[in-house]
Amino acid sequence: MRDKNFAAASLAAQAMGWIDPVTKAVVPPIHMASTYQRDEDNGYRSGRIYARADNPTFDQAEATLAALEGGAKALIFSSGMSAATACFLALKPGDHVVAPKVMYWSLRSWLASYAVHWGLKVEFVDADRTDAIAAAVKPGITKLVWIETPANPTWAVTDIAAAAEIAHKAGALLGVDSTVATPVLTRPIELGADIVMHSATKYLNGHSDIIAGALVGARDDAHWETLRTLRAQLGTILGQTEAWLLMRGMRTLFPRVQWACRSADALAQKFAGHPMVAEVLYPGLPSFAGHAAAKKQMRDGFGGMLSVRVKGGERAAVATAARVELWKRATSLGGVESLIEHRASIEGPGTPCPTDLLRLSVGIEDAGDLHADLDQALKRAHNS
Ligand SMILES: Cc1ncc(COP(=O)(O)O)c(C=O)c1O
Repeated sequence: MRDKNFAAASLAAQAMGWIDPVTKAVVPPIHMASTYQRDEDNGYRSGRIYARADNPTFDQAEATLAALEGGAKALIFSSGMSAATACFLALKPGDHVVAPKVMYWSLRSWLASYAVHWGLKVEFVDADRTDAIAAAVKPGITKLVWIETPANPTWAVTDIAAAAEIAHKAGALLGVDSTVATPVLTRPIELGADIVMHSATKYLNGHSDIIAGALVGARDDAHWETLRTLRAQLGTILGQTEAWLLMRGMRTLFPRVQWACRSADALAQKFAGHPMVAEVLYPGLPSFAGHAAAKKQMRDGFGGMLSVRVKGGERAAVATAARVELWKRATSLGGVESLIEHRASIEGPGTPCPTDLLRLSVGIEDAGDLHADLDQALKRAHNS
């Protein structure tokens, strides 16, 4: 299918057009085997030895994701965290890395604790400012520049092409957590990224029913081989059933993300003028600080994630979340059901997240219902 230059949406919908060569089934099977038979001459011509290294059930998801991102190869992992941490564990103690101050909190905590204890020199910067990235990189010493764009939970945008240029000039790789943008909206490898990372738990799967991660490599080179070996050695592989569910979810990635983008954009505009809302954070709003950079590197929409800062501070924000009826109060994002979260509560002490902020993951429900529900919750919380 790839040779015919079909659009990415077509590749996703048909899992690269895979047809079982024996049964002609249009959906791949789940391979449960943990081990593979050796040939009589002691070889392993199938290329498969043991399922901690890989599994045929990974093939369609990895091939489809590599094609959607325009990368050479993809690897699926047991979680987004295991995919992301593999990129840092592939470095050596003493290596210097640059990471954003505003990013997915669990990875930020790991970088500030375990990664530092292990010997990495981690420098956190305001990654929405390319001059801050440029000031932090040390030529020959920085090995990885990590960015997340749009970044949790303020949706700060990093200019990927500019970050790639800075990283490469210093001899470092650029890794991009593109969980929120998805390949529907942004293809970081085309902009110079070396590795793209996804929490596949989110939009790629899209149904809030598995934990999964993925990496896509711009090149199938020695560094990629290190990442593949790390996954096999650490055993951070995805279960077979989850890999199958991930591929099934990815088939509907495009319509889900496009729908969520339309609704998020409409909600951002409506709540921007709401009397109980102090500020709406959404890359699609012209007033948003990162709007110009977002426009440059996001196509067909600005994502399904936005945050609202509620007038009345933390009390009003928590009270609003308590009063929704359609939105679900839960952490995570990128599923078909819309989620609302008082983000500072989950990030805990020391979070840079404003305490009046509600993070909204817009799903595929009716946008009018979502608006009406949050509107009534804001009003009831204000009057409580
Ligand atoms: C942007 C981002 N990156 C990484 C992760 C970690 O992924 P996982 O929960 O699949 O380990 C998350 C999870 O919320 C996330 O939102």
